[in-house]
Amino acid sequence: MKNLVVLTGAGISAESGIKTFRDEDGLWEGHDVMQVASPMGWKKNKELVLDFYNKRRRQLLSVQPNEAHLVLAELEKDFNVEIITQNIDDLHERAGSSNVLHLHGELLKVRSTFDEDLLLDWKGDLNIGDFCEHNFQLRPHVVWFGEAVPMMEKAIQKVSHADIIAIIGTSMQVYPAAGLVDFAQPKTPVYFIDPKPSIQENNHLTIFAEKAVTGVPKLAKELREKFN
Ligand SMILES: NC(=O)c1ccc[n+]([C@@H]2O[C@H](COP(=O)([O-])OP(=O)(O)OC[C@H]3O[C@@H](n4cnc5c(N)ncnc54)[C@H](O)[C@@H]3O)[C@@H](O)[C@H]2O)c1
Repeated sequence: MKNLVVLTGAGISAESGIKTFRDEDGLWEGHDVMQVASPMGWKKNKELVLDFYNKRRRQLLSVQPNEAHLVLAELEKDFNVEIITQNIDDLHERAGSSNVLHLHGELLKVRSTFDEDLLLDWKGDLNIGDFCEHNFQLRPHVVWFGEAVPMMEKAIQKVSHADIIAIIGTSMQVYPAAGLVDFAQPKTPVYFIDPKPSIQENNHLTIFAEKAVTGVPKLAKELREKFN
């Protein structure tokens, strides 16, 4: 089976009811991202940051995967599908995708501020005073702006072995994730699905300028016809 590497961003979860942030003047659910998603914000006001992610976590538990997540999971019957997502939600997993790499962490996990490899599953609220086994405050297991992206190397490897690449619902503004596609072999066919595509079509790049819920089923049809 061909290797289909799928890069997803906040746009794929938009139809499930989780807001993107680039669509709203750089605000994420009404917040300046640097206040709620940066080490500086954490240092300044831990309670605000925890409250922000508690709200995101509660919201995530109340929404469902949409058609785009489900169709990607179905594609595993015909392709070796590897998803690399910037999203911190678990909607790909809940839709049934078995191979998902989270570049920017996972909302349903927290980690120790003493040992970044000490992770815990976390479905409820996280509060000041919730400590790890070494008695250090726990924080969201999310890569904040300005922090390293430890999963980049694994992601680069996957992209460099791709036979086909699909990019879905990302503004391609957040680096290093946005640069991943540059590690593809030359001439690898790339598909880009986004109602406001931020890159231009060329010989190897096909754009579906539409929402993921309609674009992904069209993409799946085209991939099955062309590459199967
Ligand atoms: N669901 C989540 O986990 C979530 C939500 C918001 C932000 N974030 C974080 O914010 C960062 C933002 O980068 P990003 O590029 O992923 O998001 P972004 O907010 O910068 O861009 C969203 C993109 O999705 C597109 N879009 C909007 N509605 C869509 C739809 N229905 N179907 C397809 N595309 C649609 C927009 O045109 C835009 O290009 C990431 O690091 C991510 O971790 C995550």
